[in-house]
Amino acid sequence: MADRLKLGLAGIGTVGGGLLRLLEAREAVLDARASRPIEVVAVSARSRRKKRSVDLSGVRFVADPVALATDPEIDVFVELIGGEEGVAKDAVEAALRAGKHVVTANKALLAHHGAALAALAEKHGAALNFEAAVAGGIPVVKVIREGLQGNDITRVYGILNGTCNYILTRMERDGRSFADVLKEAQEQGYAEADPTFDIGGFDTAHKLALLTSLAFSTRTKFDAVYVEGIETITPADIEAADDLGYRIKLLGVALRTDSGIEQRVHPTMVPKDTAIANVDGVSNCVAIDGDYVGDVMLIGPGAGGGPTASAVMSDIIDIARGGILPTFGIKAKHLRPYKKAQMRAHEGGYYIRLSVYDRSGAFAAIAQRMATHGISLESIVQRRPEADPGRKGRRGRDKATVVMVTHETTEAAVRKALAAIERDGHVDAKPQMIRIEKL
Ligand code: HSE
Repeated sequence: MADRLKLGLAGIGTVGGGLLRLLEAREAVLDARASRPIEVVAVSARSRRKKRSVDLSGVRFVADPVALATDPEIDVFVELIGGEEGVAKDAVEAALRAGKHVVTANKALLAHHGAALAALAEKHGAALNFEAAVAGGIPVVKVIREGLQGNDITRVYGILNGTCNYILTRMERDGRSFADVLKEAQEQGYAEADPTFDIGGFDTAHKLALLTSLAFSTRTKFDAVYVEGIETITPADIEAADDLGYRIKLLGVALRTDSGIEQRVHPTMVPKDTAIANVDGVSNCVAIDGDYVGDVMLIGPGAGGGPTASAVMSDIIDIARGGILPTFGIKAKHLRPYKKAQMRAHEGGYYIRLSVYDRSGAFAAIAQRMATHGISLESIVQRRPEADPGRKGRRGRDKATVVMVTHETTEAAVRKALAAIERDGHVDAKPQMIRIEKL
């Protein structure tokens, strides 16, 4: 058997602990699959003394992750610290400069600095692998970077955040409010104590930015992702979606268009009979449309120690076997500059919910505004009052919930029409607008 592959592991949280347990439990099999022994020789963690369920007695502790990254004994630096800047970035850069291979689960780091880090890895002949950064245990990086290289990919999209999918699933099943389900998710450990990254759509946007670079061979451009979270989704939206034949999912969507690339993250209504509509709970789903292969869809666990450790392990085994692939499937110098498509040109149907002062002429005025902006309505209904928890408007007047579904139109037209409706003073709150994807 070839020489041992020696790992330096920085970060022993849920994923790092999962990786250590996997290495311990399956040592002989993994060594055989990798054709060489794999061994953690040094670790770095915030606390040295913390009680852990894995035996680290024979493993060197290095307090500074950056020192661990350049440790002469290690071949691979496994970065499970997280964060787009700071010590994780310093350590990954130091490791690559020292010619160490890097395996990371850090989506924020790569979404912001992916192209530069890929170039650094290539310059020093090192691998920079990140399977665990996108969709947890689903091996989607491998699928795009290896399995689909013969294709021109036109679209990649999916459910990329387990926390949001769990919250939306529970809201739908139990008819409960967003705040109520979020609290429960936090108590059960599904959502972080500070859930902003998940529920605000940013975690999904990080993962989407990586999928975009892999799928379209472009430089990573996180700032170009349009992001909306799920905080504004109400039981009334979920009930209306159900009546209309849809379910609401937080989707990340990246499209290659004639004018450039469109990347967006937002709650989306998807037809109930599609596979993606039926991906529930903490599961993730990634769909890739290729010209030769057709449509590919992967569904599986998107988070958690076991699934994420599984993804980290596959990156380590690839390195043990001697394979160094370009980080985003193509040499960094060949990654194309990112060209942004106009989000406002996005076309599709829209669901709109308005909280309207209940007075004569309001309904007609709203319909008129839509018509003036060239928007054709598929349906417009005033919902029964029970679906609306606070019937009194800001000024103490009765209000009603009006739900409209448009035919295919442009985002720009919808935004202009809604701005005009707000200016007319018929509505009590900012209109809710959810895009409909036929998929
Ligand atoms: N917080 C993420 C999720 C998992 O809820 O899917 C890590 O990316």
